[in-house]
Amino acid sequence: MNSIDNLESLYSVVSLIKKNYYTTYLVIYSKTFERLIENIYSFNKIANIFKPQINISDRTNFKLKDYIILPLIAAKMRKNSIPKIHYVLTKSEVNYPKRELRYDEHILMNKTSIQNNEYIVLGRSLNIYPEIDALLPIEYLYRHTLIMGGSGSGKTTTAKKIITSLARKKYDGYIIIFDWHREYTTISSRYDTRIYMPGKPGKTNISIPPINCNTDLETTLQIIEASLQLTPPQTYMLAKITEKICENKNTATFLDILRSIENEKERTSIRSELEVMQALYRKIYTLARGQGLFLFSNKDRINEIFINTNNRPNIIVIDLSTIINVKLRTIYTSIMLKTIFEYKSLYLIKNPILIIIEETHNLLQYNNMILDQMVAESRKYDLGFIIIEQSINNLTNNIIANTFNKIIHNTVSPIDLEKLKQIIPLSYVRILPRLYIGEAVFTGGIFKEPLIIKITYE
Ligand SMILES: Nc1ncnc2c1ncn2[C@@H]1O[C@H](COP(=O)(O)OP(=O)(O)O)[C@@H](O)[C@H]1O
Ligand SMILES: [Mg+2]
Repeated sequence: MNSIDNLESLYSVVSLIKKNYYTTYLVIYSKTFERLIENIYSFNKIANIFKPQINISDRTNFKLKDYIILPLIAAKMRKNSIPKIHYVLTKSEVNYPKRELRYDEHILMNKTSIQNNEYIVLGRSLNIYPEIDALLPIEYLYRHTLIMGGSGSGKTTTAKKIITSLARKKYDGYIIIFDWHREYTTISSRYDTRIYMPGKPGKTNISIPPINCNTDLETTLQIIEASLQLTPPQTYMLAKITEKICENKNTATFLDILRSIENEKERTSIRSELEVMQALYRKIYTLARGQGLFLFSNKDRINEIFINTNNRPNIIVIDLSTIINVKLRTIYTSIMLKTIFEYKSLYLIKNPILIIIEETHNLLQYNNMILDQMVAESRKYDLGFIIIEQSINNLTNNIIANTFNKIIHNTVSPIDLEKLKQIIPLSYVRILPRLYIGEAVFTGGIFKEPLIIKITYE
């Protein structure tokens, strides 16, 4: 602790607060800013392992004078109590090179600010002097948004910032969140939110028919092929069987397919064909049994998502963490996305839709093209995507090219930085490894030149 006297003003205070009048304060301090950030990241990573037992949340209104060192007292936790960690970085910003607004940017700022309801404020600028708000016009959300950055850099928080800002503006569209790790359900405490838990029997389950014979079957088969990694003969067999089922039905479930395979098996004596059927049967089996039974049925409940409530906006959280098998989770999400796209493109839903997708790489594995395709084609239907992904190298070029707004948080991976050089000017790429939690390089929005911003989230 003595060494603290030697410190310059760079340190961070982390406090661990809870219960029975006991409070533990944890102070992280470092002599250099880079070191400080490293320490906070490590701390964050460790704390994240203990989620939800330890929950990190920020407290921006926490006022601490520089050089105040808080005492370390033993914490006495009640059994099963959940400690909440608050941390504050007293001197947060690195001094980024600052510039003044150009004349044309001034005009754009004024123009956007006048149309008050049509944009959201992501945060404030760190490289513009005097400071300005980082504006994102709502209309630009339909040109899609990419949120990138390392683990713990602030991606989910940024997405939540966009959602809650829209909520305050009484956005008239549907905000559908594919919540991979159950991180968005807490939004519901402040805003009217509907939470669905697919795969869990009961009212909040949304079952969908995996195969809708009256729509684009090609894409459906492609999704199944990619997710189950079917071989070409298996895909062919699946197509043949599906076609047969669709001759006298409107939808087909995986259970229907299993039964058809069984029937077909009896009719053939060709060995190679039998082997293909057996392999296909085994792969489809995972989807037809267990949770698959609840997720996929001929009863289409997707309509319920789009019931017209008076709530504005309609925030819909689809808690995917209830689906245990990741393959099942991916295939369910893909088919859900496809169905939403069909509803929207057939003009069955009039209001705009914003879809938030976390852990995007799961959806892009094994040549699954559904997201790729949708991002390219959905713009004309006021259907916007917010795509969240750790590494730019996990994304397709199509997605990178078709997302107009890019919010890039702290990135240290050399291969990611290399690829990012193709997207933002080198001087901004160099800043990425130095960004603090919640800070980002932001391109898109109303300016041509990227902004360095701090996402304000309270
Ligand atoms: N803009 C921000 N302001 C203050 N704290 C933030 C901000 N963004 C993230 N954090 C904090 O950092 C931690 C990790 O953020 P999170 O959004 O979950 O990161 P990621 O999704 O990139 O893993 C969270 O505990 C969150 O409270
Ligand atoms: Mg996250």
